[in-house]
Amino acid sequence: MAGPVKTLVALLLLAAGTSRAAAPDFDQGVAVRPALEQARENAGLSDQKAARPEGVEGLEDAVWISVADEDAAALGTESGFPGREVVAAGGGVSVYQARIAELPRLADRMHEKLHKCGGFFTFRTLAAARLALAAVPGAAAAREYSIDQGDRVRPMVAAIDEASLGRVINQLAAYKNRYYTADTGVASARWVADHWKSLAGGRSDISVELYPHKGWAQESVILTMRGTESPDSVVVLGGHLDSIAGWGGDSAVAPGADDNGSGIAVLAEAIRVAVRTGYRPARTVKFIGYAAEEVGLRGSRDIAEAFQGAGVDVQGVIQFDMTAFRGSAEDILLISDYTDQAQNAFLGRLIDEYTDLRWGTTACGYACSDHASWNALGIPASLPFEAKFDEDNPNIHSARDTLAQIGGKADHAVGFARLAAAYLAEMGK
Ligand code: BES
Ligand code: ZN
Repeated sequence: MAGPVKTLVALLLLAAGTSRAAAPDFDQGVAVRPALEQARENAGLSDQKAARPEGVEGLEDAVWISVADEDAAALGTESGFPGREVVAAGGGVSVYQARIAELPRLADRMHEKLHKCGGFFTFRTLAAARLALAAVPGAAAAREYSIDQGDRVRPMVAAIDEASLGRVINQLAAYKNRYYTADTGVASARWVADHWKSLAGGRSDISVELYPHKGWAQESVILTMRGTESPDSVVVLGGHLDSIAGWGGDSAVAPGADDNGSGIAVLAEAIRVAVRTGYRPARTVKFIGYAAEEVGLRGSRDIAEAFQGAGVDVQGVIQFDMTAFRGSAEDILLISDYTDQAQNAFLGRLIDEYTDLRWGTTACGYACSDHASWNALGIPASLPFEAKFDEDNPNIHSARDTLAQIGGKADHAVGFARLAAAYLAEMGK
């Protein structure tokens, strides 16, 4: 049985006959490295990317590029513009297919004719190009996202372990429930804190605290990795640690394996591989297990508002909520509403760069998890989700939300842990 809000929204949408599968808003403010540098890297990695999700038959070295329409028009036919097929367009920018081999020449033409360095962006998949495309008029001061921490990300990604994820999920699901007012809700939060402490391996730059809330017993848990260079700049990786089943409150059996033992497991796994590979962030990184999400995002609202009140400079937030159930053709679905489009586009590029997973976008239709508490304050937040909305785990919020019920393995969560490691290192720099 799904949650009350989800159910209500689904019914309302059904009644209205509307489709929730809203097209993502596009964002132009995804500044990437100079195209040539990126193209070289693409070329170097192209054999690892043999299985591209979208058809590029006969074009082994195909990439997608986005070019401003006025630039394309000014370039002249010699460069293949205009006249090249437009694959997607919006906001005065168009996406084309190109070959890596032709990018140096294109960059030269841009430089000679338009006096632009770079002048176009390259993407490994059409999905990434689409998401980075167009719109948000006037978003000139958009935050810059770049991908250049492969030496840190790859060892972490390689160390992600399905069995470790599965163990955490089962430990959390063993509590009768993790309801925000229940004794077991409190005990399970304290278990998370103790577990994270044990993962920190005595590192002096890592601390773990219980974060108490006014009005209910369950604490949130915050692990802080202090930044080596910009400790006042903060990145947040989060997920809720509470669980719920039906209207049963503190006496219900609510294992919450997928919702959201699986998100807490992803956070733990990112911490584990970060410590194991000796990773130290330049910015301060906070891993947060939120209390009381299932009763109205209350723990995350408290924390987001307290951070804002204290003037904490939060650069970005990623939320992991439901990662263990495979319900759609895509491996990861980026939730397109109540989230930041530029950061979503960046996540798409991270997935393309560091994994061979397929991804897409889907909408919740309402403020469905803790990312929305940050988004409400104007802080860039994203939610990479396990399936398309309505193709997700049908057993959440019931006694049947166990790992055994979804095959007994945490394979699907592995991809999310890889994304968490990539986000950690590329945002933490
Ligand atoms: N993990 C769910 C959100 C969710 C469920 C997203 C299914 C997409 C598909 C979350 O823990 C939850 O249950 N949220 C509540 C809303 C919240 C404001 C109480 C819900 O969806 O009812
Ligand atoms: Zn949840």
